Amino acid sequence: MRTRPLKVALLGCGVVGSEVARIMTTHADDLAARIGAPVELAGVAVRRPSKVREGIDPALITTDATALVKRGDLDVVVEVIGGIEPARTLVTTAFEHGASVVSANKALLAEDGATLYAAAEQHGRDLYFEAAVAGAIPLIRPLRESLAGDKVNRVLGIVNGTTNFILDRMDSSGAGYSEALDEATALGYAEADPTADVEGFDAAAKAAILAGIAFHTRVRLDDVYREGLTEVTAADMASARRMGCTVKLLAICERAADGRSVTARVHPAMIPLSHPLASVREAYNAVFVEAEAAGQLMFYGPGAGGAPTASAVLGDLVAVCRNRLAESTGPGESAYTQLPVSPMGEVVTRYHISLDVADKPGVLAQVATVFAEHGVSIDTVRQQGKDGEASLVVVTHRAPDAALSGTVEALRKLDTVRGVASIMRVEGE
Ligand SMILES: NC(=O)c1ccc[n+]([C@@H]2O[C@H](COP(=O)([O-])OP(=O)(O)OC[C@H]3O[C@@H](n4cnc5c(N)ncnc54)[C@H](OP(=O)(O)O)[C@@H]3O)[C@@H](O)[C@H]2O)c1
Repeated sequence: MRTRPLKVALLGCGVVGSEVARIMTTHADDLAARIGAPVELAGVAVRRPSKVREGIDPALITTDATALVKRGDLDVVVEVIGGIEPARTLVTTAFEHGASVVSANKALLAEDGATLYAAAEQHGRDLYFEAAVAGAIPLIRPLRESLAGDKVNRVLGIVNGTTNFILDRMDSSGAGYSEALDEATALGYAEADPTADVEGFDAAAKAAILAGIAFHTRVRLDDVYREGLTEVTAADMASARRMGCTVKLLAICERAADGRSVTARVHPAMIPLSHPLASVREAYNAVFVEAEAAGQLMFYGPGAGGAPTASAVLGDLVAVCRNRLAESTGPGESAYTQLPVSPMGEVVTRYHISLDVADKPGVLAQVATVFAEHGVSIDTVRQQGKDGEASLVVVTHRAPDAALSGTVEALRKLDTVRGVASIMRVEGE
């Protein structure tokens, strides 16, 4: 074993960073044996230097992250600050000064992964980011390496624990969205400002990363269609149950049937209770991958939290350190297919539409005509009437999303349709 240690700088020492530092210290001997050289924590950049950080030598703490990454003697920089800046500049500066980078930063990878990959390649260094998607769950490496000889056609995942917790509570207790969010906040599953989670931004960043890797093309956050779960109601949940389904916030990345484009989207969807993703409870994550030769694969586990995320960071750290010793690098960006990302209107999906209608003869025929005029075929219709008003629940066959949303627009204009109570896509069949 080499005795000269590999030097690692930690940028950020919060929920994830503090666990990375702890495991690096407590598992130092095992890590050294697995890598073939000891690993030394050479510096820790933070925002608040006076904060007590258990197990970390205060002499290592600095607020000058830029000076740390410019030291020139670092082998690896672990970026667990988060956000776009200063993280992006720090990562590119680290490459310029000879370090490889391990990052957990989904926002940065989804926003500007191409710049990071280019900097890594230019300087002959590694960029690893297993922790950026689905926390502890090995997913990036299986897609980048284990499935490198296969053709992935679809990635369907629950990649946000907060929203899965909320929907799980709504499903199991009949709670409304606000009540379930309050419970998630009280239990520490939702942040004080839950916008990034409940509006789907976090899942959309992960969808962009997954789609890019799965289909060997560039997909950015802006390419991902996004709807959050704030509009999901207890009535939607009950309706899903009646259909033998539950509601999940899904990240869905698909290769088009003709193979010429891809799509990436995040939205709530009904999935059958028989689908493996339906049984993913609480704040767990799971990703279902469909590949041509491998068939269906499912990856399941904790998608967040300090220690689980640090596990993924440490796995990357070991891999990157091994590459350093071998004077090699792991896989870089693979975007050779250059497949374009199609807009949501071209996605082929199914809708579950709940309408409040007048309870009189001919309404059903009128509604059915609107569907037919838009080329959308109906799978099932359920009607309930009471006191001159009725509700109609229509489930469609697969059709382009643009045709489905055109149908809903036209339905809203019918005199006999009092309102569109809910619209939800149906997936996973
Ligand atoms: N938390 C999770 O479960 C989880 C899961 C997967 C991925 N991630 C990703 O991991 C990354 C870190 O998340 P986290 O939850 O650990 O965040 P966090 O608890 O907020 O920690 C952020 C750390 O960065 C430091 N920091 C902030 N701005 C800085 C600056 N300008 N210079 C130097 N240090 C700075 C903070 O310093 P102070 O300590 O002084 O405030 C803190 O130590 C993010 O990209 C996140 O998306 C997190």
